[in-house]
Amino acid sequence: MSHHGTFDHTTTNAGIPVESDEHSLTVSADGPILMQDAYLIEKMAQFNRERVPERVVHAKGGGAYGTFEVTADVSDFTKADLFQPGRRTEMLARFSTVAGEQGSPDTWRDPRGFALKFYTAQGNYDLVGNNTPVFFVRDPLKFQDFIRSQKRRPDSGLRDHDMQWDFWTLSPESAHMVTWLMGDRGIPRNWRHMNGYGSHTYLWVNGGGEKFWVKYHVKTDQGIEYLTQEEADRLAGENADAHRQDLFEAIARREAPTWTMYVQVMPFDDAPDYRFNPFDLTKVWPHGDYPLIEVGRMRLDRNPEDFFVHIEQSAFEPSNLVPGIGPSPDKMLLGRLFSYPDTHRYRIGPNYTQLPPNRPHSPVRSYSKDGPMRYEPARTGAVYAPNSYGGPAADTARFGEPAGWHAAGEMVRQAYTPRAQDDDFGQAGTMVREVLDDAQRGRLVGNIAGHLGDGVSRPVLERALRYWRNVDKDLGDRVATAVNGG
Ligand code: NDP
Ligand code: HEM
Repeated sequence: MSHHGTFDHTTTNAGIPVESDEHSLTVSADGPILMQDAYLIEKMAQFNRERVPERVVHAKGGGAYGTFEVTADVSDFTKADLFQPGRRTEMLARFSTVAGEQGSPDTWRDPRGFALKFYTAQGNYDLVGNNTPVFFVRDPLKFQDFIRSQKRRPDSGLRDHDMQWDFWTLSPESAHMVTWLMGDRGIPRNWRHMNGYGSHTYLWVNGGGEKFWVKYHVKTDQGIEYLTQEEADRLAGENADAHRQDLFEAIARREAPTWTMYVQVMPFDDAPDYRFNPFDLTKVWPHGDYPLIEVGRMRLDRNPEDFFVHIEQSAFEPSNLVPGIGPSPDKMLLGRLFSYPDTHRYRIGPNYTQLPPNRPHSPVRSYSKDGPMRYEPARTGAVYAPNSYGGPAADTARFGEPAGWHAAGEMVRQAYTPRAQDDDFGQAGTMVREVLDDAQRGRLVGNIAGHLGDGVSRPVLERALRYWRNVDKDLGDRVATAVNGG
């Protein structure tokens, strides 16, 4: 390696020794540049192709490799190899903001992505969560509109609080998440000091074929810490990469951050009669109903040797579910199962699973073939199945049972069937009244009023005040007083 000490000679991408790092090939010192300077042309052409498109959301982030170690016994609930007692599994984590672009400040108020990839003995398992247990919308048809309202205006190219509040207040299912976002946890001190949540409900299947609904909680062992709006605003100007830098430097100092993973487990048959829809992504399951059960610990201790290769080209996808784990009827999750592999094929190409961060550590014997940038030879022997030439065959006796549930009915476009406690504001109100203390409520009022005071039109502001009074009457009144200046 070449930073200090001995230097090897430069080569072209084809490994041919290079004549100069300093001078193009010209006809005499002052003369024109020659077409046969293949090295110069290679440098310019390669440079022109250095960028892949940034992620359409979660563009700004950072991450590291590590290990997940099972510390408890959840084998009664899942047969997933990575969750069996004592198992250690290599993993990759990527943290991110959602709305900002590649170069945007790490400290903007936004949810944080919390994406985990486990290189298990039965293929890659991806848990692509956020630092929030809930989300803004509950139907994937609204996700694109939601994101546009958080990004930039088509005319000015500016972000716009009026668009944000317009969308939120016209989509009251956002109230729980927006309460969360406007609170202290809406700007973590850094990625080491925040929790991750799978957010969706997933299905677990044990060795006996029994099914359970689960929610993942990945709690920081460093403790929750946050930034005030003022601290975050200052840091946004001073060091836009504060969170990326913090993680990289902590790991370089050998202060490997750790998180403890828990699950809430709901018996399969509880779901139909639970008092609210347990698959609704805008709701949590109260801990009192379904307490946390420990699973294991993740430790991030290895920085990427090349940010682009390992972090920018990493591709997380909720559809990577391994035997013992399945999706749930959460419509958002079902939408996401399509979206991620699709965007990866576009962003980094159809053979993205062969890139270092995405390559499974277990054997790949798929019948997919060819395409741009394919470099792993097919290992199947035959290019079609079934075949009589020794190619792989699905082991349906072992893996044939889909991790699913019974579904039947008319095709409709409808909200989830309403249940007793399916309202949009209840859990947000509980958070405000029962979880936050006075100081936290005070900062929540300040953050909301500050955000609403920045370019929100009168009709949208009026609707926002009703929205907050629906969350909590007193909170709404205090916000009104703060934005109306007394
Ligand atoms: P609990 O009192 O058992 O849980 C409240 C949870 O709120 C805590 O465990 C903590 O989650 C989280 N919390 C604490 N401070 C904040 C904050 N400033 N911003 C956001 N979250 C915070 O009650 P319930 O389980 O009955 O839930 C009550 C309310 O708490 C819910 O309506 C929801 O708004 C909120 N909540 C619930 C979670 C759950 O999964 N049940 C998770 C997070 C929030 P943690 O321990 O994960 O850090
Ligand atoms: C990234 C779509 C909801 C967490 C992305 C990307 C897309 C996308 C297209 C870019 C991926 C890439 O280019 O690599 C969607 C859709 C959603 C949805 C269509 C809803 C229907 C959610 C939810 C969560 C979430 C609910 C969390 C619970 C993430 C994370 C990333 C991401 C963490 C970044 C992954 C990484 O670090 O590479 N999403 N998303 N998304 N999304 Fe979603």
